[in-house]
Amino acid sequence: MGQGSVQFQMGWIPMVAQMTSEFDAYASDYREHIERLVGFTGRSHRYFVETKVNHLLETLTSLGVVPKQMRMLDLGCGTGETDALLVPHVGELHGLDISAASIEVARQRPENASVRYATYPGGQLPYENDTFDAVFAITVLHHVPRGDWTQFCQEMTRVIKPGGFVILYEHNPFNPLTRWIVSRCEFDRDAVLLSARTAQGLYQTAGLCVEHVAHLLLFPWQGTWLRRLERALQSLSLGAQYTVIGRKPVFGNESRTASVQAQAEMSELLNVESCGT
Ligand SMILES: C[S@@+](CC[C@H](N)C(=O)[O-])C[C@H]1O[C@@H](n2cnc3c(N)ncnc32)[C@H](O)[C@@H]1O
Repeated sequence: MGQGSVQFQMGWIPMVAQMTSEFDAYASDYREHIERLVGFTGRSHRYFVETKVNHLLETLTSLGVVPKQMRMLDLGCGTGETDALLVPHVGELHGLDISAASIEVARQRPENASVRYATYPGGQLPYENDTFDAVFAITVLHHVPRGDWTQFCQEMTRVIKPGGFVILYEHNPFNPLTRWIVSRCEFDRDAVLLSARTAQGLYQTAGLCVEHVAHLLLFPWQGTWLRRLERALQSLSLGAQYTVIGRKPVFGNESRTASVQAQAEMSELLNVESCGT
């Protein structure tokens, strides 16, 4: 198969797609790009990845599940930075991205040897319904065309099991430093930042129950009391990034009714709210 060509399985139907992604161009030095952008904080890219991984594991545990027993999908996994830290803590990890070059880099990392990587052309996810216990997308949605946000969240919801989790980590459009970094980032030229409120609306449209919303990365330093303070302030739109965690109801009828109503409200919200940079 040629470069950028991928074969994947949709149910029992094998499909071949040709794809290129703007992120192909950054696959070989993605981490260096980020290091240059966040260098002024005195923190490495790893620090920011680690903060999200720790937050994800702690939050899932606090929601009563055991990460080590979970099958997870890293949607928009890029070069597998998160996966390299997450692998020892979860049961089974899959990674999916539209950038074939990024997936190649992710695959080459020895820490990611057990991760099952795949590429797809966007749109429908190449997995059966109810496949995963959790699907997370870290700083991906702002690269997805705004008109596809609803479908993106609906697809994440489709592939998780009832009771499973959909997790977004996104840039906080209300944080001036975040906006400044995004404005200087070459691969964020297409970025349309979305607020935690918009993300919650998308979850409702997809029929998810919002379980947890938190703003994080308020301080670029570690330390017990700073972490406590950050946690105390997490409901305010202050941190550089935020997360919204939603859960797929075990019994779906009431959420389907809510979803139809939420869909109408969401269309209205997407028309009025613009956080583009
Ligand atoms: C800023 S990078 C983040 C990569 C990774 N999640 C991380 O935190 O290091 C955004 C990634 O989203 C991917 N992406 C964009 N649109 C996508 C889509 N519709 N489905 C899956 N991945 C997508 C890009 O190819 C890119 O690898």
